[in-house]
Amino acid sequence: MAKRKSTCNNSNMAFMQLSMIGLALVLLFEPGHAVDKSNFKTVDQCGFARRHKDIPEGQSPYAAVLDSFHIEADGVMRGNILNTKNGILLSLEVFGLEDRMVRFKVNELSPIRPRYEVPDVLVVEPTPIRWKINKQDSTSIEAATSSGITVLLSSEPFRMDFYDNKQLVFSINPRGLMKFEHQRERRKSVEDQDQPAEGGEEVDNVEPAVVEEQEQEELEEEPEEPDMWEETFKSHTDRKPYGPSSIGLDFSFPGFEHVYGIPEHADSLALKPTGPSDPYRLYNLDVFEYDLDKRMALYGSVPFMQAHNKERTVGLFWLNAAETYIDISSNTADKSVFGRMFDYVKGESDVPQVDTHWYSESGIIDTFLLFGPSPMDVLSQYTDLTGKPFLPPLFSIAYHQCRWNYNDEEDVKQVDANFDEHDIPCDVIWLDIEHTDGKRYLTWDNHKFPDPGRMLDHLAAKGRKMVTIVDPHVHRDNNYHMYKEGKDNDYFVHKQDGSEYEGWCWPGSSSYPDFTRKDVRDWWASRLSHDSYQGSRPNLFNWNDMNEPSVFNGPEVTMHKDVVHADGWEHRDVHNLYGLYFHMANAEGQIQRSGGTERPFTLSRAFYSGTQRYGAIWTGDNAAEWGHLKASNPMLLSIGLAGIPFIGADVGGFFKNPDEELLTRWYQAGAYQPFFRAHAHIDTKRREPWLLQPESKLIIRNAIRARYALLPFWYTLFHNSSQTGLPPMRPMWMEFPKDADTFSMEDQYMLGNALLVSPISDQGSRATSVYFPGNDPWFDVDTFFAYQGPATHNVNADLDKIPVFQHGGSIVPRKERVRRCSSLTVDDPYTLTVALNNAGSANGDLYIDDGHSFDYKQQKYIYRQFTFSANKLESRALSGAGFETNSWLERVVIIGLKSVPKKVELISQTITQLSFSTSHNRQVLTIRKPGVNIGQDWTIRLS
Ligand code: GLC
Repeated sequence: MAKRKSTCNNSNMAFMQLSMIGLALVLLFEPGHAVDKSNFKTVDQCGFARRHKDIPEGQSPYAAVLDSFHIEADGVMRGNILNTKNGILLSLEVFGLEDRMVRFKVNELSPIRPRYEVPDVLVVEPTPIRWKINKQDSTSIEAATSSGITVLLSSEPFRMDFYDNKQLVFSINPRGLMKFEHQRERRKSVEDQDQPAEGGEEVDNVEPAVVEEQEQEELEEEPEEPDMWEETFKSHTDRKPYGPSSIGLDFSFPGFEHVYGIPEHADSLALKPTGPSDPYRLYNLDVFEYDLDKRMALYGSVPFMQAHNKERTVGLFWLNAAETYIDISSNTADKSVFGRMFDYVKGESDVPQVDTHWYSESGIIDTFLLFGPSPMDVLSQYTDLTGKPFLPPLFSIAYHQCRWNYNDEEDVKQVDANFDEHDIPCDVIWLDIEHTDGKRYLTWDNHKFPDPGRMLDHLAAKGRKMVTIVDPHVHRDNNYHMYKEGKDNDYFVHKQDGSEYEGWCWPGSSSYPDFTRKDVRDWWASRLSHDSYQGSRPNLFNWNDMNEPSVFNGPEVTMHKDVVHADGWEHRDVHNLYGLYFHMANAEGQIQRSGGTERPFTLSRAFYSGTQRYGAIWTGDNAAEWGHLKASNPMLLSIGLAGIPFIGADVGGFFKNPDEELLTRWYQAGAYQPFFRAHAHIDTKRREPWLLQPESKLIIRNAIRARYALLPFWYTLFHNSSQTGLPPMRPMWMEFPKDADTFSMEDQYMLGNALLVSPISDQGSRATSVYFPGNDPWFDVDTFFAYQGPATHNVNADLDKIPVFQHGGSIVPRKERVRRCSSLTVDDPYTLTVALNNAGSANGDLYIDDGHSFDYKQQKYIYRQFTFSANKLESRALSGAGFETNSWLERVVIIGLKSVPKKVELISQTITQLSFSTSHNRQVLTIRKPGVNIGQDWTIRLS
């Protein structure tokens, strides 16, 4: 969310439509204040969380009823868990899965009403593999799958321990914090006796499954807490017709000290132990000027955590879309390195362990345990479940120019012309909310943009694209086609009384389509067609904002939890999915408008597990402050670890005005982050690169050009990501999993396995210390200076310098011609930079396709592997067929050469002598114009 003044400033019409309440809201959100924490709940203000967070350890009332457990025909182990305090029976299903995963589900055995199970996030319903019972006695059952995973199910208290080849890696409910609130009918107080039951909805006369009657006498009646049925936060009352329905469970990771993931938080990469009042919260929210170093919820949620140690990486996926909290503690957290050494010397060193406690407001316990063992394996397992990332069109990984707002067609033309005038590449110009007719998305302000088709064609002629913003709130105006159609077809979400839910957002009074419904998504998607979206063109793409959803006058600036969605589900159940569903509809709409041939591009602010299948996301409304620049790296690394690789932060900072040093440093960082877009708030000063001092402009131009040169490398990383789930931007520990010095590192990171990036995020800094892991050298990409690992070196970081290093043993492709935009680079020649390791070898890969269509799915691509060893550089096809390129190999640069060759030959159809030169103390060999087509097999021989 940003300030609301523009509604008044920029659209008199909209201003007229604001009621006094709306105006009050608008003023409430004036900028200039950091996050108003009172708008957001603390954990202590949240009823269900209070009932979970302080559960005493070691007093679990849950017992596995061992007699009830069987391996059923489908190979799944099923049985019951009894709450010995209230007699309620729960069902437990434990699925051994292929590819070293386990899933387990806990539900009520006979719920009064079905409980929500998250749909549409898993791309497959994974097939179980059979458990085999190894041992069973009166206290436990031990069962194993053929993939070496063993579970020990203990009866009293209920607990599960999972072993990977005899090594304990997950303990479930070891601290006894499990709590599963069964559905119940509201107890009537004396005064209530004559009143009808709360909530209006009749419940079927189903009794929850309980133990036999004679045992029931000893059962305790659970205390009824007031906020189980109704809860008030500020002026908002959340009526809960179905009563309490929260779930919670604790998980320990024995042997681990580091856990990661569960975005989105403005926090460190390695997750920190939480205090009693600051658990990590997952609840998609529009937070105004968010604070750093906080576990408060932000725009997106991925309930996926990884634990890593030198031996292995494992993952835990808590498939639940309701408001969720996670507490983390660790037995080594408050020990300094010195303290740990002292323990060790005294012989008192504990096995390290991270303990986590997860609790959600509704739904069921549906959990996946991913056994890795490598970091790559965990990401591949997770994205086997939730989907591989989409392959972005080439233009979308290039540079984007955005601002709230480019004012009119003339402004857009000027911006476009200035990029050319100043020789700065740019692929996309963005239009924010002011381009619409009164915040009616999929329309244009006719005065400012009288002929959008003309404007888009003008950009298309340059090879450029445009992105317009499309938010989910629909202005309540019967003359607006989206509202009229939505209303006529009953597509909007409802209040409990069945009336259309109304909330306030940019346009004022708005309705919210129920994107959890497929027919609603289909309708929305159809409205992106060129026929329907007047003035649109194939070079127009979209940006989905405010899809948490943001409701200015709602509790915590979002939708009321008792809003009703399809099939009677409450917003409480689906909240964290809303943004994903909206993103889905928009991406689908773009695919459909091209008849299924073109790849979409949609940027979303809200996200959930599975978002990687639809588009990119960004970290919302950051600020032009050094701290926010610094925070962008851990934030993006955490989101990448959660399976969403196409991620960025507003370059320059959204709120406030960056000074030139901050802006240039931010461009330098952004050029090496996956989604690279400058954006700024409507109240900020214009800051397009040509408005800066000439030196700053040149530094920014070089950073953007460096990004363009590396587009072949980025595109290859994105292709690989679409196959494996691995993010292009990855934490150091992913590439150096045995090097404990990297486990908490977040100010430097890897792009693929080849480039180490250490962006400068401190004011005034002109040098930085970089840790170079491994035993091979690392080469500065500008100077080719070699740094030997493993060691920390102080490196130059003058204002025009981005510290980037190529790992010895890797090969990086570039296109070095400077162009206006990426589409003009298609036929450009390649440079390969071969950085040799200590053994004098290296390898790398290159993926090429048409950059925009789905033809690659029919194998129409080139995917090559380059290998350098024994003085020979070879190019061989890994896969792909039927795609041809005109690009040829212009140059090969070999760094770290031990001896200079006498002769360099290209062997393809014929053998040709190549000219070459050496530089940098004869360590760097430049081979000129091999001239061979990059898609062919060839060898370059040094002798
Ligand atoms: C939100 C977005 C921001 C956008 C603004 C106006 O604050 O996060 O990027 O510019 O809305 O649409």
